[in-house]
Amino acid sequence: MTLISILKDKHIVLGVTGSIACYKSIDLASKLTQAGALVDVILTDGAEKFVTPLTFQAVTGRPVYTDMWKTDGADSLPTHIAHVGLGEDADLLAIIPATANTIAKLAYGLADNLLTVTALASRAPMVIAPAMDAGMYQHPTVQDNITRLIERGGLLIPPEEGRFASGLVGVGRLPETPTLIGHIRRIIGRDGELASQKVVISAGGTREAIDPVRFISNRSSGKQGHALAQAAVDAGAREVVLVTTADLPVPVGVHAILVESAEEMLRAILHHSTDADLLIMAAAVADFKPQQRAEQKIKKENSDKSLVLELGRTADILVEVKAQREQTGYPRMVVGFAAESENVLSNARSKLIRKGLDLLVANDITADDAGFSVDTNRVVILDTEGGMDELGLASKTIVSERIIARAAMMLGSE
Ligand code: CTP
Repeated sequence: MTLISILKDKHIVLGVTGSIACYKSIDLASKLTQAGALVDVILTDGAEKFVTPLTFQAVTGRPVYTDMWKTDGADSLPTHIAHVGLGEDADLLAIIPATANTIAKLAYGLADNLLTVTALASRAPMVIAPAMDAGMYQHPTVQDNITRLIERGGLLIPPEEGRFASGLVGVGRLPETPTLIGHIRRIIGRDGELASQKVVISAGGTREAIDPVRFISNRSSGKQGHALAQAAVDAGAREVVLVTTADLPVPVGVHAILVESAEEMLRAILHHSTDADLLIMAAAVADFKPQQRAEQKIKKENSDKSLVLELGRTADILVEVKAQREQTGYPRMVVGFAAESENVLSNARSKLIRKGLDLLVANDITADDAGFSVDTNRVVILDTEGGMDELGLASKTIVSERIIARAAMMLGSE
């Protein structure tokens, strides 16, 4: 069971139409329900040829709707005016998958089944995820209908390229559940507390090259930074840039820039911070790098029993950001992390001042359940007024939401 804060208690009407991809909607309905959403499923006649109402009822724990005229029984419609009742208090109408036929009906206001009637009656945002075989997606008629829907405020989950059930290859595949959920949380969060803000986040440990095959790095996994990027999307940020060294999934709505060294990270952070409202430096940036990067792989025959590496300092990215901010005013707000193994609070306080931060998230990396690689963290958030918010043991997701909420509150009160 994976609760997702932004989806908790949200009412999602999931319209499922008759594409073979509708088997994926079962997993989607299940994961949305596990995330805490209230999912009401409407099946079209076409969908019922592939999947049954009972399956959706089992995974959502709620009645499933198929018949526009049904007025009694457990799966009767919420009010006698069926279409109004279902869409009335919905936070989202998600039509996943959407066939060419349903898209055409929606584009022209046809209302001949429960789903299309509900779509006309509901004032909730509507998202469609087209899924169709054999190049139908690229047909000008389908494209025109989609454009028409988007012009009227409809939202699109673009189909992916790949192999269809027919064996043909092209654009028209329904994305997998994590991607679908990524789009849904982005839509539901879009008016959140960070709406209209640009957020830049760094993640992971940098790699400092010794030669073409070796590098010096650290134990940072990038999980905290990637979780922060997702939390920023959930909070409605208009743009989220994630400068990362980690090979981890990139949340939907995040522009990821893959870097390796402290120097590359510095360049990317300074470039993207020039108009950023919030910068969060969650990366574990190397403080030292080999003075010289060998052009060729260092061979053991060429050295004695030992190899001496001379290390030099890397730039302190936050100190460079501080200088840029003093000149330009951007980024408007800066949050740093402090990885400490002793005297956590006093070391963290001095970093807060030295690096010109608004907030500092300190963690004791000696604890087994906190810091590098694990999914949980134990942090204390310090501010410049001497305030201290101790979070205790929490998932990196919850830690991220708290940091984002705190930063958003401070940005909002500026
Ligand atoms: N940081 C940075 N540039 C560096 C090193 C660190 O911008 N070259 C940032 C980190 O992303 C973090 C904060 O500075 O947000 C503190 O990092 P930390 O490693 O705890 O501190 P250091 O400044 O490296 O100091 P020390 O290692 O001596 O504790």
